[in-house]
Amino acid sequence: MPATIIDGKAFAAKVRAQVADHVTRLKDAHGITPGLAVVLVGEDPASQVYVRSKGKQTVEVGMKSVEHKLDAETSEADLLAVIDQLNNDPEIHGILVQLPLPKHLDEDLVINSIAPEKDVDGFHISNVGLLGTGQKSMVPCTPLGCLMMLRDHHGSISGMDAVVIGRSNIVGKPMAQLLLGDSCTVTIAHSRTKDLAEVVRRADIVVAAVGRPQMVPGDWIKPGATVIDVGINRLDAPERGEGKTRLVGDVDYDSCAAVAGAITPVPGGVGPMTIACLLANTVTACCRANGLDEPDGLTA
Ligand code: GUN
Repeated sequence: MPATIIDGKAFAAKVRAQVADHVTRLKDAHGITPGLAVVLVGEDPASQVYVRSKGKQTVEVGMKSVEHKLDAETSEADLLAVIDQLNNDPEIHGILVQLPLPKHLDEDLVINSIAPEKDVDGFHISNVGLLGTGQKSMVPCTPLGCLMMLRDHHGSISGMDAVVIGRSNIVGKPMAQLLLGDSCTVTIAHSRTKDLAEVVRRADIVVAAVGRPQMVPGDWIKPGATVIDVGINRLDAPERGEGKTRLVGDVDYDSCAAVAGAITPVPGGVGPMTIACLLANTVTACCRANGLDEPDGLTA
């Protein structure tokens, strides 16, 4: 049987509709508009695209969007001053500092200067610690999106064997915590893992988040397993014309789809869920800040 294609684009649209619904309720019943501030330092083209997209989608769901674009030479003190001002702004419920930062800025210091309750990326050490101890936290957006798709597809994932390939702070580690929180048996694999193929073959759920194009072939996948591909890699595609490129994931889609029970495509899988979950986290942060009920199904 061919694998079910998990449609992240359609799922993200559903999440955004839920967020927009909750925003309307917050405005009508409480006169509160959730606000998200995005801070971009420098002119990295990929980051500029992301930030533009975040701003557009924030406004589309009815929230307030604020963008701070700082030049690449901005000092740490000036950046921390912007964050401090946002931390103290009652109209801002979520703050995101776009990564990577220019080399002269200390990423850990900057992230940990965001008020934890406004840290909609879930990268602050307080949120990392809360997630790791099973307490209410802000959850990193990409892993949250993966978890939502897994829950939606399976109902419950309790007791399943999950392998996360990649140990980044942004995806791999928080993904493993979320899977553990849903009672999976979790293995975190990485570049030094011995016999990765054998490790992956045991998994009912494979989350690939390594940033290496098409590195997981179909013969590593247990028949019927669910494959979540977090990778977004751009490859040259001369067959599409001169200078053209195409996006591929960290799994070899065709061979994996032939064996898997379900799979997320690239593009149109995990990618669209990340910004949808950022919007969801902003509404959640706004509700918590105001002592109001959080929307159902939009948090871990
Ligand atoms: N750069 C790439 N992904 C992310 C993300 O999820 N959050 C932030 N802040 N920067 C990123």
